[in-house]
Amino acid sequence: MQYKNIIWHQHFITQKLREQKNKHKGVVLWFTGLSGSGKSTVAGFLEQKLYHMNINTYLLDGDNLRHGLCSDLSFSNLDRKENIRRIGEVAKLMVDAGLLVMTAFISPNRYERRMVRKLFNNDRFVEVFINTPLSICESRDPKGLYKKARSGKLCNFTGIDSHYEIPEKPDIKLNGEESINQLVDNLLNFLIERNIINV
Ligand code: ADX
Repeated sequence: MQYKNIIWHQHFITQKLREQKNKHKGVVLWFTGLSGSGKSTVAGFLEQKLYHMNINTYLLDGDNLRHGLCSDLSFSNLDRKENIRRIGEVAKLMVDAGLLVMTAFISPNRYERRMVRKLFNNDRFVEVFINTPLSICESRDPKGLYKKARSGKLCNFTGIDSHYEIPEKPDIKLNGEESINQLVDNLLNFLIERNIINV
């Protein structure tokens, strides 16, 4: 959409200045994967480690955001797209604020993941695919939603009657069957290798 008569205002305090103060980069780690794949859990444990390393973080979690900012959205394809668009824009602001942002949304469609990637400079968007087979997610079923979906009490459930498009070129692909500690270590090593954080 084109906004007439609205001009971008460049403020004095920039992302660069905030990053110098924070002593780390502002980036988003965009977790994607099936419900129950481990996105929120891994992001939550990673955030604890980063907190103790003095990294300024924020975790945007699908279930939580759907209680507020996105509470008007359903799980139709159109609403999921809007869900991801809003989170992408929120994450962009937080990255500009110099934070290391983690988002934990199924984000099932390649097109939408590409759309959010385009909001960021290349080195500031990291797609993290937690690759956990559907059978494992279904056996975990932490919220009982797979059971509901199988019995027909819940429609449009990702992996059952709504598709999940596997990322073709994620920046990092994690094996969701590994231990939480292992997955968090893999991510920490990745952040250090990419000079996103220093130790
Ligand atoms: S997304 O597809 O729009 O990215 P999002 O990550 O916000 O989904 O929300 C997913 C969470 O909502 C799941 O972890 C699950 O707890 C819950 N949920 C409720 N209904 C559905 C559904 N039909 N499909 C997937 N997840 C659902």
